[in-house]
Amino acid sequence: MSVENKVEDFSTPIGVHVRNLSVVYETNQGQIPAVNHVDLDIAAGEITGIIGESGSGKSTLAMALMNSVSKPGRITNGSVIVDGIGDMLKISNERQRRVRGKQIGFVFQAAQNSLNPLSRIGHQVLDLGRSHQVGDLRSLLRHARDLLIRLGMDADRVLMSYQHELSGGMRQRVGIMFALVLDARVVILDESTTALDMLSQASVLEIVRELHQERGLTIVLITHDMGVVADLADRIVVMYGGELAEEGPTEDLLRQPQHPYTRGLIRAIPRISGNPDEAIALNGSPPDLQTFAQSGCLFYDRCPDRIAECQAGRPIYKEISDGKKVACYKVDRRD
Ligand SMILES: Nc1ncnc2c1ncn2[C@@H]1O[C@H](COP(=O)(O)OP(=O)(O)OP(=O)(O)O)[C@@H](O)[C@H]1O
Ligand SMILES: [Mg+2]
Repeated sequence: MSVENKVEDFSTPIGVHVRNLSVVYETNQGQIPAVNHVDLDIAAGEITGIIGESGSGKSTLAMALMNSVSKPGRITNGSVIVDGIGDMLKISNERQRRVRGKQIGFVFQAAQNSLNPLSRIGHQVLDLGRSHQVGDLRSLLRHARDLLIRLGMDADRVLMSYQHELSGGMRQRVGIMFALVLDARVVILDESTTALDMLSQASVLEIVRELHQERGLTIVLITHDMGVVADLADRIVVMYGGELAEEGPTEDLLRQPQHPYTRGLIRAIPRISGNPDEAIALNGSPPDLQTFAQSGCLFYDRCPDRIAECQAGRPIYKEISDGKKVACYKVDRRD
């Protein structure tokens, strides 16, 4: 069986393994290390939630997973090994193009802009099929229709529509349909439900969960909303300033957050913190160029638990117990 056949087999979920991945943006003010030496295993068949405030590097990481970082961004280091496929940063451009949208489906944050304004949604489904050598375009269209219905839309109307005829929330759902219609095995959803009202968001996320179970999908769910990942993710990864601050199984991480940043994110969501009267906003603002320049912990100036040694150098991101990792001097001290 060829590698390509193997990855289309629904019974074999695909994992993604990120090693020492770095991405910088070249700006007039200097280089922004948007993703900095990140090591991350996205487990096959699981939902991995990536959270962090605006600017923490979530979208840049998502784009780097597909080797789709665009200028002024540049991947400077690392590898992204996709099971059964290889290193997305090394395989040929043509193979990358075939993997993107086929084995790996995605809805990038600016999804509304990735639709073609001049072509009806149905035509775009056919174009996508043709560009991936789909033989049976009629059944592809049927699949698109079924997905749209499942996502709560008037499928026939949507397929006949142009992008500008759809609301922001509808476009997000159309984006999710595109990510799934070629039967991707890994699906990256970057803030894909933020334009939806609370009720629609909940129902779309429920459908994502169902599809995940039916198809054994590996899902990367990116959001700034701890509530969304708390409900859906098997595992949560917390990003801060382009680096990983903490990760662990969802329940564990919510019950016993180790990093002061994770605790801050949880306290900001009363439903999760179990403190319904009190949402405590995080102090300070996310890292800027000055923060990146410092050698110590990036969270130092906002951290309620800081100690002198936090300025000595970057805390090492390491495993503290089975499946739990954290980068914090204070946690190291307790050992
Ligand atoms: N095109 C760009 N040019 C310059 N800097 C950029 C560009 N895109 C992102 N950045 C910078 O890279 C860092 C990471 O941005 P990124 O968009 O990945 O964060 P994010 O976690 O996805 O944020 P958000 O929650 O707002 O979507 C930020 O400091 C951001 O300002
Ligand atoms: Mg983003």
